[in-house]
Amino acid sequence: MKSVDQAVLAQLFTEARTHNVWQDKHVDDALLQQIYAAMKFGPTAANSSPARIVFVKSAAEKARLVDCVAPGNVDKTRSAPVTAIIAFDNNFHDQLPKLFPHADARSWYAGNDQKIARDALVNSSLQGGYFILAARALGLDCGPMGGFDAAKVNAAFFPDGKWSVNFLVNLGYGVAEQLHPRNPRLSFDEACRIV
Ligand SMILES: Cc1cc2nc3c(=O)[nH]c(=O)nc-3n(C[C@H](O)[C@H](O)[C@H](O)COP(=O)(O)O)c2cc1C
Repeated sequence: MKSVDQAVLAQLFTEARTHNVWQDKHVDDALLQQIYAAMKFGPTAANSSPARIVFVKSAAEKARLVDCVAPGNVDKTRSAPVTAIIAFDNNFHDQLPKLFPHADARSWYAGNDQKIARDALVNSSLQGGYFILAARALGLDCGPMGGFDAAKVNAAFFPDGKWSVNFLVNLGYGVAEQLHPRNPRLSFDEACRIV
């Protein structure tokens, strides 16, 4: 596999920022489809793909979501053209006969609620990361958020209990002039070991 050039790494990582202030610019539904078309190929355990996504776009649904977020996240969520609820399917293992047909992977999970809960969270979080990178690759900016009342989001958007929220991502075109200076990252030596 060839490595990508620096411009791609810049767009996905080194120059990409978390945005809090949004341009009043529409995000087409086709772009949301393209995000999913790319991110769904990111790897997950046994190809289990537990993430489920609700793209909140309409004013009415956005108002219901804004009601669930922390005070510091209200304005950015209200003004973002789209807010994605990155959720997971609490019974994701029921899809394994389709997604991992060459093994009886469903039986690895059935009856093991702890493993279901852990792998749902690990793998939907990975998929949330793929979501952010896919959105950036398609020219969108992201603003991920963990500051919200999960019970409230689940009651408002997933009342049947089949899906549960993991985190939220505001999506759109950010106002770069409103960014604060980038915070530092840990150095390789602080964060990594080669053994
Ligand atoms: C899972 C997750 C939860 C976050 N929660 C919030 C939040 O509730 N509110 C907020 O303003 N930013 C939130 N952030 C944004 C982070 O603070 C931000 O991504 C980080 O400081 C890096 O900023 P940068 O991408 O501009 O370098 C969250 C980010 C992630 C990935």
